[in-house]
Amino acid sequence: MSVQSPRRPDLTKTAVDELSVHHHEHAMYDLVIEELQGRRIRIGDHWLTDFASCNYLGLDLDEQVIASIEPAVRRWGTHPSWSRFVGNPRPYMDIEDRLTELLGAPDTLVLPTITHIHLSVLPVLAAQGQLFMDARAHRTIYDGCHVAVGAGAKLIPYRHHDLEHLRAKLRAAPVSGPRVIVTDGVNSMTGNMPLLPELAALAREYDALLYVDDAHGFGVIGERTPDETSDYGSRGNSIVRHYDETYDNVVLVGGFSKAYSSLLAFLALPTALKERLKVATSPYIYSGPSPVASLATVLAGFDVNAERGDQLRLQVHQLTHTVLDHLTKLGIGTSNTSGLPIIQIPAADPDDLPALWQSLFDHGVYTTAAAYPVVPRKEVGLRFQLTAANTSAEIDELCTVLTAHAHRFKAAA
Ligand SMILES: Cc1ncc(COP(=O)(O)O)c(C=O)c1O
Repeated sequence: MSVQSPRRPDLTKTAVDELSVHHHEHAMYDLVIEELQGRRIRIGDHWLTDFASCNYLGLDLDEQVIASIEPAVRRWGTHPSWSRFVGNPRPYMDIEDRLTELLGAPDTLVLPTITHIHLSVLPVLAAQGQLFMDARAHRTIYDGCHVAVGAGAKLIPYRHHDLEHLRAKLRAAPVSGPRVIVTDGVNSMTGNMPLLPELAALAREYDALLYVDDAHGFGVIGERTPDETSDYGSRGNSIVRHYDETYDNVVLVGGFSKAYSSLLAFLALPTALKERLKVATSPYIYSGPSPVASLATVLAGFDVNAERGDQLRLQVHQLTHTVLDHLTKLGIGTSNTSGLPIIQIPAADPDDLPALWQSLFDHGVYTTAAAYPVVPRKEVGLRFQLTAANTSAEIDELCTVLTAHAHRFKAAA
């Protein structure tokens, strides 16, 4: 099936407009999903397997999680329309208590989304000081930094993953006001991790705060233990614990909208900062809160995580490694060196992306097109995400389709 939009705006070739071309002229974005059965989805009359979902633990389809919603809604209604500042239904307190324990953090604060957090918290942390931002930080981090700049902070980007460049920038910048180093945790495009211990050490050395967005790591990676089911670690308690780091000079941001399939996000932070943010950030004071269904599925997600989380992570690990091993066998390149369930595969020819995406679609594989400027031109390609709800049969089908398209992907270096 090919979906062509009737809209053909006059587009110029700026970076953002290139994405707009993909949006308007190709079928790759903004599609309507009519129906869902497990990880099978129907678009128009075409059934596909979904490899674009971030529901890494498969909790969106988990019966225990689904069953948690009705009793909570019967008790609290569909939506607490108080902002958190006005009134907190008890589940908020339960979520923060359990999350603080899971993360081993000094304290936690939950707000509706990570996007809300970046936009409202980065300006408070940076004030009239400096933001040292990884140049490949997620778009929502960028946006938060730009709000902070509007409020008087100075933005100082450093080259992606380049500690010496960051150190040079920290050394060169005159100390005036707070300093915040801003980075992704598990990268949403490459699936790889930042040099977290080194970044934390630099933050401590230069009296800065390290602010990490681990949207994709929370629920997937966790503390290393002798009885861990895989090298993802145990408990899914995110990147700080995965590296056995402390929260000194570190603010961890994460979300429930990926591995926990719920609309809610969090900061792990000192209690004094939490109390300040309660009176300084509009999402706490004014925003409509997460729906009760999401508060319920977060709490049920904690139960599932405690009871079966490491087993689910093992499943994702095995499915991911089946695909990665297959790519190695085919000689196809991927930026993924971590083994985490985000597998980006660059196209041999970036201009082939729409046709390549369409061909996989026609073969029943639904994937995310990683187009420029979302990724650098040399990385333009397809991104596949694996979840515990994918079946082995679906992974086998994916491998067959990848084999048939091998010549259209960039060869491994
Ligand atoms: C790294 C990263 N941060 C933030 C977000 C947005 O999270 P939220 O939906 O909680 O605003 C995403 C989602 O794509 C992401 O990948």
